[in-house]
Amino acid sequence: MKILVSAGPTREKIDLVRYISNFSSGKMGYAIAEAAAKLGHECVLISGPTALRPPKNVKFISVESADEMFGEIRRESKNSDIIIMAAAIADYKPKKMAASKIKKREQSITIELIKNPDILEWLGKNKKKGQIIVGFAAETENLIANAKEKLIKKNVDWIAANDVSRKDAGFSSDKNEITMLSKSGEIIKLPLQSKKKLAVKILSQLLISSTNKPENDI
Ligand code: PMT
Repeated sequence: MKILVSAGPTREKIDLVRYISNFSSGKMGYAIAEAAAKLGHECVLISGPTALRPPKNVKFISVESADEMFGEIRRESKNSDIIIMAAAIADYKPKKMAASKIKKREQSITIELIKNPDILEWLGKNKKKGQIIVGFAAETENLIANAKEKLIKKNVDWIAANDVSRKDAGFSSDKNEITMLSKSGEIIKLPLQSKKKLAVKILSQLLISSTNKPENDI
């Protein structure tokens, strides 16, 4: 199987030395890529900036912004069997990047933000025959209801609902707890455990569902 994984945050530049980003460490996505390679699959990992070393036997592509990630994912997604979007892609970017460092002259400044492309939504709209697309839903409230909404709106096969309001799970932590929801109504709770163990369980579930997927499912 060819498995494409995205991981880490994106950086959206404000000026030459500043950016907007988030607390994603990349641990969840890297653990999934590592597990995929260890299970013998061909794996591509597209990652925003992290402090992690790329896993062995994985094709590693480093990106910075959401636009760069979109470009690489469009290219790599064409012949991927399973796509897992664990990256925390910035929803917004500054409308204009200042050409030089913004000087500290004014009491306040306003930075206008515009929407980034929604890569998962694009993948859902451009799904190839037999492809399995998996999103993560990082939520701080109404976890399952909001995750279900993303599953439907983005036309994906699975969504991993991730409560990111907790200190012991989610962003940056070594552990995570998720609930996997499928388009066909399955609900699989994966309790708090290391991201490495969780990654193996997520992949196993996806590989089972890919074996059961009808040939003509688009
Ligand atoms: O990296 P770690 O520190 O290990 O933390 C793991 C994690 C919390 C980052 C990860 O498990 C997680 O929840 N990733 C998704 C974070 C996120 O951006 O969630 P979201 O609910 O905002 O987005 C929903 C889905 O759409 C995600 O699959 C995301 O990759 C995708 N997306 C979001 C915005 C955008 N412009 N394009 C996208 O494709």
